[in-house]
Amino acid sequence: MCGIIGYVGCEDACPILIQGLKRLEYRGYDSAGIAIQYGSQIQRYRCAGRISQLEKMFDPLTIKGTTGIAHTRWATHGEPTEKNAHPHTDMKGDVYVVHNGIIENFHILKRKLEKKGIEFSSDTDTEIIAHLIAIHFEGDLSEAVRRAISMVEGTFGIAVIHRLVPDQMVIARRGSPIIIGVGDKCHYAASDVAAMVRYTNKVVHLNDNELALITKDEFTLSTLHAKPIHRELETVEWNAEDAELNGFPHYMLKEIYEQPDTIKNATRGRLEPSEGVPKLGGIEPVWKELKECRHMVLVGCGTSYYAGCVGRYVFERLTEIDVEVELASEFRYRKLNFPPNTFVVAISQSGETADTLAAIREARRKGAKLLGIVNVVGSSIARETDAGVYNHAGPEIGVASTKIFTSQLTILTLLALLLGRHQKLSLTEGIEAIKAIRELPDLARKVLAQDNHIQSIAEKYYKYSNWLFLGRGYQYPIAMEGALKLKEISYIHAEGYAAGEMKHGPIALISSEMPVVVLAPGDSMYDKVMNNIQEVKSRKGPVIAIITEGDNRLKDMVDEYIEVPRTLEYLYPILTVIPCQLLAYHCARLLKRDIDKPRNLAKSVTVE
Ligand code: G6P
Repeated sequence: MCGIIGYVGCEDACPILIQGLKRLEYRGYDSAGIAIQYGSQIQRYRCAGRISQLEKMFDPLTIKGTTGIAHTRWATHGEPTEKNAHPHTDMKGDVYVVHNGIIENFHILKRKLEKKGIEFSSDTDTEIIAHLIAIHFEGDLSEAVRRAISMVEGTFGIAVIHRLVPDQMVIARRGSPIIIGVGDKCHYAASDVAAMVRYTNKVVHLNDNELALITKDEFTLSTLHAKPIHRELETVEWNAEDAELNGFPHYMLKEIYEQPDTIKNATRGRLEPSEGVPKLGGIEPVWKELKECRHMVLVGCGTSYYAGCVGRYVFERLTEIDVEVELASEFRYRKLNFPPNTFVVAISQSGETADTLAAIREARRKGAKLLGIVNVVGSSIARETDAGVYNHAGPEIGVASTKIFTSQLTILTLLALLLGRHQKLSLTEGIEAIKAIRELPDLARKVLAQDNHIQSIAEKYYKYSNWLFLGRGYQYPIAMEGALKLKEISYIHAEGYAAGEMKHGPIALISSEMPVVVLAPGDSMYDKVMNNIQEVKSRKGPVIAIITEGDNRLKDMVDEYIEVPRTLEYLYPILTVIPCQLLAYHCARLLKRDIDKPRNLAKSVTVE
């Protein structure tokens, strides 16, 4: 969704901002814009479409100015057109604003301002902020921003520059992230670390209702009531290379291939083989209550929700905790009553998904304790939960989540194992689990080694327009995740179903025109899944089965098979999802889709 990058320093701002915008592209956007300040002049360029189009509007080398702001917009209020693209300005062209979030009282404010004779030049809610700042400006930009945002309701992360105060930028936050990056005689502001990690790894996160005045030499942080705040710099562990393609044609493929490392990183320093108990430092603040927990709710959206769905089966197997799993967008509006000592676990790559954030706020209001499984350090969910576990998986840039899913599954398994060892599992079971978890990176590598074979299967089937994915037990959520991957990036219609439900509907669709991907590793559901395969085959449905290495019985029965190495039943999902990711990737590539920027989708959904 929308992205912000800003710069105040000694170098020309334009190339830095364009570079930053390119790093934000992965979030999903439909228009872009930039404003550069040179003395008391500000030049602005905006366009609908891609950043490559924006670049064609000017020659970056001729645009002078060492201060600027830029934005990628994902339309909410008003179509994705040039006039609605940010930065927005006031009637005199003094104030320039980029904004992420939604101003909820904008209709009321707009009517009031129009009565005073102010003319609006866009359909956006953001423009109101520019007019309000202009009205309140009396020489002090921070004060004007402070007064303007005290009038708005809703969410914002903003960056503002003013024609009459060169070499300054003011940023503010309520509900939408904004981060300061500290460079050498310069400062950056961005909604996402990825936009500035190429330039600096020293950052300061703003909390809600905070504002910062930024110059090239310093930043001054304060509350919206002008109370000064001191905050230490944080060091981001990602480096510039993590955000590059490194020879891969797409981020999605690069990230699929990173999984042996990201699974390992999820366990690094966390496995204690001799005691069969994982160590999770991040949950120590709540350990006393957590170890007694008997009721847990896992919440997330999209792929993170499906990780929770697998997590439920793993918790059921390893612990005595009753686990529910809920879509965050539903959870936030449900009338739930929690038994005492309920933990709500938010699962989120970005840590900024609006529904997941709202879900944990609602859970907090109802007295639940909050855990987070989050990849982005310092993100809103990481900060608003009582404790949690980071993925340490590096930036995930491909819109279709891959490496984070397997990382989330690994962490959920560690958490379940830790609690299970406390509640019911023997030392032997704990040791066996840790041994198997340690083997996972090598096993994932073996699955990846079949990429050419998976590609050849995609070549046979990518033109089919409807696919079905079936699985049972631990593999049911993988069927849903496999279908999600395929539809997200190839736009092929795909449904994920519990194999046992096939007779209650989907079986009507099966024909030689509908490939059926069956998740069929050698687990406790094997015989049942085998029956489902026979049902598909007897209706001439082509079956692509994901099976355990050496399963000759199934090999003879299906049209295509992809083998995964043997592991523990509750770890199979970490392996069986990888062929689904690769199948989706290759189908999308053969269909010439824009894999890293699929239409209409956003990487981080920061509005409801
Ligand atoms: C979007 C992304 C998905 C992601 C979901 C949840 O829909 O396209 O890849 O799974 O949001 O995001 P989160 O950052 O909370 O995991």
